[in-house]
Amino acid sequence: MEYIIYCTTVLAISVSLFYIYAKYKLSYWRKRGVKTPPTHLIFGNFKDVVTLKKRPAEVLCDIYNNADPNDPYIGFYIFHKPMLLLRDPDLIKRIMITDFDIFPNRRFGSRDQKDVTDLESLLAMQQPKWKYVRSKLTSAFTGQKLKIITPSIVECGKLMLNYIDNLPTGVGVEPKDMSSRYIVDILNSYAFGIATNSFDEKTNVLWKDCVKLFCDLQAILTFLIFFFIPEWSHLIRPLKKRTLENLKSVFWNSISAREKTGSKRGDFIDVLLTLKNGEQNPIYKFEGSNLLAHPISVMVAGFEATTDALAFCLYELARHPDHQDTLYNEIQTYVSNKELTLDVINEMPFLDSLVIEILRLYPPLPMTDRIATRDYKIENTGLIIEKGVAVYMSANSINQDPKYFSDPQNFIPTREYENKKFHESLPFGIGPRSCIGQKMAIIMTKIGLITIISQYILSYKQPNEDIKSIHTFTNVPDKFRLLFQKRDNRS
Ligand code: HEM
Repeated sequence: MEYIIYCTTVLAISVSLFYIYAKYKLSYWRKRGVKTPPTHLIFGNFKDVVTLKKRPAEVLCDIYNNADPNDPYIGFYIFHKPMLLLRDPDLIKRIMITDFDIFPNRRFGSRDQKDVTDLESLLAMQQPKWKYVRSKLTSAFTGQKLKIITPSIVECGKLMLNYIDNLPTGVGVEPKDMSSRYIVDILNSYAFGIATNSFDEKTNVLWKDCVKLFCDLQAILTFLIFFFIPEWSHLIRPLKKRTLENLKSVFWNSISAREKTGSKRGDFIDVLLTLKNGEQNPIYKFEGSNLLAHPISVMVAGFEATTDALAFCLYELARHPDHQDTLYNEIQTYVSNKELTLDVINEMPFLDSLVIEILRLYPPLPMTDRIATRDYKIENTGLIIEKGVAVYMSANSINQDPKYFSDPQNFIPTREYENKKFHESLPFGIGPRSCIGQKMAIIMTKIGLITIISQYILSYKQPNEDIKSIHTFTNVPDKFRLLFQKRDNRS
């Protein structure tokens, strides 16, 4: 009996102490006059993410919509840790661009500068290392480099076309499955220096590895922890051993083949070899696993996001034959009987608006974060963001806010709106730390679209009309199947 009383007392005291602790922690924003949504005593505002009920982007959108329309920010908690969601475009620009020196780092992986592959790459690296490495790798993503690699992207498009040509009549294809094979072939060629055909089931080991990187439960948990609870990142083993071994051996084989032959392809491997053989800075050496980190990060950052971008373009085009016709006519005007070059692609206005609208409506990586390296006072409101507090930006929330867009939930590639540059940039992040592969991602998507629409009319079966409510790391047009009808290009 005494034992039961003892246990009950200990439990009651523990619960009371936890209650007082949680209430104290969760009063951080109230004490500073910052609004928050209703908050759970244990999970803060992330209960639905932790229980896998909602995707992080959806939860951030709910938080965003809990504020008043003109609030520049709203507070929230991940467990008991206070975070600030930025809502005002001017404030976002100030933090991400003007005052970048105070917010140069992501919270993502911030514990030890290692990314989801357990390597040091741009994704999780912090200042001053980040600035040095970014300045060295920028040369791999210039317009000039893109011009050089455009023919190899076109070649990967031909593999996709060949796959479509050989589909049995009436067999639907998942847009994401098809896009992912095309994107992996391009990234294998660019970042790992090897030609692959992911449409060939007998030889597509690397494609299978990449799909696993993103799609199983372990991958989802890994990304959730790296984005939202980086303090726990040492608890998980991010990349499967076999996948890492495969990528490692492909990469080092390419490096040694290039070194032996001295041949150049103008790709990422060439850039890395130049850095490896150049002068080294004590701050970061381009050698050993540091070298391997970069092609892997290109795959991690570029694969899923670009796959989603192309998959959603195909999804919306299949649902909108009128926009498909407009695109087809534009292709006929600009590309017909010409070589598909970067200059030609960049001249196509409708194609450009279409991709921009897709990224507005379905941003593949819908949130970014920055962490304050010292106390920072927000000019207009006087709120101090304390050192170590993270600020978040939610691209889908802002880019679907009726304050900025009429009919925001609908796909309207011809839409007009103000502050175009800001809203177009959001899906790729803002400022010096925005996506390094933005131009490449857009070109891969555009070439994929030109390749398909110039030869085929798209339609679909089994649409899932709930698709618009899904905003994730991995936007999947679930159960949706594309159908292809060959165009009669003679008419
Ligand atoms: C449609 C496709 C893509 C989207 C929507 C996208 C979006 C993003 C976003 C939102 C960020 C974070 C930016 C920030 O924190 O402000 C990012 C970073 C990054 N992305 Fe992309 N990305 C795409 C494709 C690519 C591709 C194809 C590559 C490589 C070839 C790539 C490489 C990277 C890298 C390395 C970073 C980290 C940059 C740094 O911290 O310096 N991304 N991307």
